[in-house]
Amino acid sequence: MDISKVIIPAAGLGTRFLPYTKAIPKEMLPLLNKPAIQYIIQEALASQVEQFLMITSKGKNAIADYFDTDPSLELFLQERNKSGLIQDLNKIIRSANFSYIRQPEPLGLGHAICMARHAIAPKEYFGVMLPDDIIIGQVPALLQLMRIARQERASVIAVQEVPEEYISMYGVVSIKKQFTPNLFQVASLVEKPQKKDAPSNLAIIGRYVLSQKLFKALDEVGFNQDHGEIQLTDGITQMSKNNEKVFAYKVQGSRFDVGTPIGWIKALISLASQDPYYAPHIKEFLTDLNTTNSFVYDRTKNLTHTV
Ligand code: UTP
Repeated sequence: MDISKVIIPAAGLGTRFLPYTKAIPKEMLPLLNKPAIQYIIQEALASQVEQFLMITSKGKNAIADYFDTDPSLELFLQERNKSGLIQDLNKIIRSANFSYIRQPEPLGLGHAICMARHAIAPKEYFGVMLPDDIIIGQVPALLQLMRIARQERASVIAVQEVPEEYISMYGVVSIKKQFTPNLFQVASLVEKPQKKDAPSNLAIIGRYVLSQKLFKALDEVGFNQDHGEIQLTDGITQMSKNNEKVFAYKVQGSRFDVGTPIGWIKALISLASQDPYYAPHIKEFLTDLNTTNSFVYDRTKNLTHTV
């Protein structure tokens, strides 16, 4: 099974991160010295997928500018022997192929994915990566799904076990059959159920490998009556009803929802704590923060020097 394209829906308004997102796309939030979207592209490239169909909207041009060459910056850095500063990014720009498609109105995740329909051939399988979800692990999350999709010759969605008090924040899987501790066949998906109505504790997270048949299923379900949006979860449930096999796989790795300030802060601290350069600085700072010597605890102290 050849999986060579990934759709990245990045046309949402990012209301949970306002007012920041009024002028700057949340996909460009920094995680250490890279924007969040770069982690998504790196995960796909590490999974041997190089074609990106980026769904964008007004105000998201910074994403396209970032993944573009900049001859004057390159010359400037070359003259100062500093080309290394953008070396990794240039490698990405050289190996990836980006297409940008505008979603004229934020009419839902299913609608956003449909904007790339023309680029997907009949019978083709493709990836979908939500840029809010950063997943860090030994094996790229997308690659984990691709392996299952190839093994089962079917669509597969990433899931994570979630404590029941948080389940109503997620799309949740109703299981038809369990095959291994991590692999399930999906009966249907329920969007943000109440705790008492949740069919399982398996929450959908932002990675999918889907069959082209999704588009027909989304046509069939159309706009959701309750939300006025075309929802991906409705489309996947419809695929299942159409006797298309859909699997759910518990991916291994740490996941951060960087679409909210608290999720972004946790991602930042966690990445910094694991990075060879930043780790000693951040660990010392966090340790100090817990002591009464800390500037934070003693507001009468003079400004401390931080690196
Ligand atoms: P979210 O609902 O989590 O993101 O959509 P949002 O709409 O950007 O943010 P909030 O809820 O207002 O804070 C999940 C993903 O789907 C994309 C978003 O960009 C995000 O990556 N999306 C959502 C679209 O591309 N178009 C849409 O119409 C809706």
